[in-house]
Amino acid sequence: MKINNICCIGAGYVGGPTMAVIADKCNYLNVNVIDISQKRIDDWNNDDLDKLPIFEPGLKDIIKRRRNKNLFFSTLIKENIESADLIFISVNTPTKNKGIGAGMASDLRFVEECARQISKYAIGHTIIVEKSTLPVRTAQTIETILNSEINSKNKRNHLKSFSILSNPEFLAEGTAINDLEKPDRVLIGGHDQESIKSLVEIYSQWVDIDKIITTNLWSSELSKLISNAFLAQRVSSINSVALICQATGANIEEVSKAIGSDSRIGKHFLKAGPGFGGSCFKKDILNLVYLCTYFGLPEVASFWKNVVTFNSWHKENLIKIIVHKLFGTLVDKKIIILGFSFKSNTNDTRESPSIFIASQLLKEGANLVIHDPKVNEIQIKKEIENFISENDHQNYPKELPFNNNSWQFCNDLDNSFNDAHAVIILTEWEEYKNLDWRKISEKVLNTAWLFDTRGILNKNIFKELNLNFWQIGTSSESK
Ligand SMILES: NC(=O)c1ccc[n+]([C@@H]2O[C@H](COP(=O)([O-])OP(=O)(O)OC[C@H]3O[C@@H](n4cnc5c(N)ncnc54)[C@H](O)[C@@H]3O)[C@@H](O)[C@H]2O)c1
Repeated sequence: MKINNICCIGAGYVGGPTMAVIADKCNYLNVNVIDISQKRIDDWNNDDLDKLPIFEPGLKDIIKRRRNKNLFFSTLIKENIESADLIFISVNTPTKNKGIGAGMASDLRFVEECARQISKYAIGHTIIVEKSTLPVRTAQTIETILNSEINSKNKRNHLKSFSILSNPEFLAEGTAINDLEKPDRVLIGGHDQESIKSLVEIYSQWVDIDKIITTNLWSSELSKLISNAFLAQRVSSINSVALICQATGANIEEVSKAIGSDSRIGKHFLKAGPGFGGSCFKKDILNLVYLCTYFGLPEVASFWKNVVTFNSWHKENLIKIIVHKLFGTLVDKKIIILGFSFKSNTNDTRESPSIFIASQLLKEGANLVIHDPKVNEIQIKKEIENFISENDHQNYPKELPFNNNSWQFCNDLDNSFNDAHAVIILTEWEEYKNLDWRKISEKVLNTAWLFDTRGILNKNIFKELNLNFWQIGTSSESK
């Protein structure tokens, strides 16, 4: 089947960049990205390309090239479903927060809503592609919903038919455009060979055919969950090794290099940090844990659950280290937090370790000054307020949420360090590597500590400076 019109439901971190790259690589295609959020669509259509809803290196240029040529953002759901030959479902799949499976299983209500709308509005034969990360066998649910309209006795809907594919997205935020343009692989799962061929045809416009893997539907759905579980497990593994280094005098950079040089292990994802964040790792592992329990595999569930448990404990342990170094109390102490996004080169703060760490520091009574080059004040405030209200809000100081003393957003980094008790690097933004640490060491208090939880600074510089230095995975250095 020749594809001319594509529709993507969901203009988020996946839908936006993925469709931008498809439109860029296949200029014969009409690509319509739709969303229920008018604000998100308005942001995608903003003339000022610095105000797009998502920051990703390289994204702006593609939007400039393709928007309103063969790439369109709108809220016209019915019209775009009607005209589509192929529809990507790229909506959010958060963790359920109530009812059976709460805190573990995927909340599929947005996916279900998409299936209902497609079922209602689609015309002719339509290929439905699961782009969202979904529990294994979700395609079956989608198929049941889609066919309900066709099978309805009261309606004459013999003119529509569907085939379902799974095509999970493996992009990483911060490098999304590069990952989409030069993917390690593209995975397409399905049972209908004709539809698989149509989707392969699109990707093969820019991806080497050897890198396009086709599987059955369930292998494809499962592979995405497993891929994220493996990556998160690696982060927890290397963070656990960092603690062994701290205790023994070994150095995490050296250990990572030594083990990563073994081609069986590989060098990627061996950087210690404050714990994994982002919208996917935790929710996808918890979903996997839920599936394992459902399929009667409690030991397998417990194996993967530990990856998440360790990640939470690791962040708590960082707080303990900070409090200990600052003489056991943070009350009224000025602490500068450098970085709020969950990693560099993205403005995404979902599940960022900074949320937990900043909230805990506030709970200890610290006065925070928070900086991030791409995350704005409103977003930071919202994340911390949400965290506090969903957790133990009764344990936080009464004046929260934020007055000027307990919390400040920092626009002017140069003038923020005066009399600080501590500086904590939580995101590995390039600009933090290049700060003038000599000057900063003269502004902070004499007893101040710098905590480098990302291991981005050269430890040797601090030997000569008037600043206590702690770096993840190394033994700490007081001056
Ligand atoms: N963010 C990532 O790095 C990443 C990477 C790979 C896969 N994924 C997966 O991709 C999926 C989407 O993730 P995301 O980060 O893009 O989410 P997101 O929250 O950024 O975007 C989802 C969008 O879908 C819209 N939406 C929800 N229901 C809708 C409906 N019925 N009709 C139209 N629009 C609707 C929302 O308004 C939102 O704008 C998730 O399953 C996620 O696990 C995410």
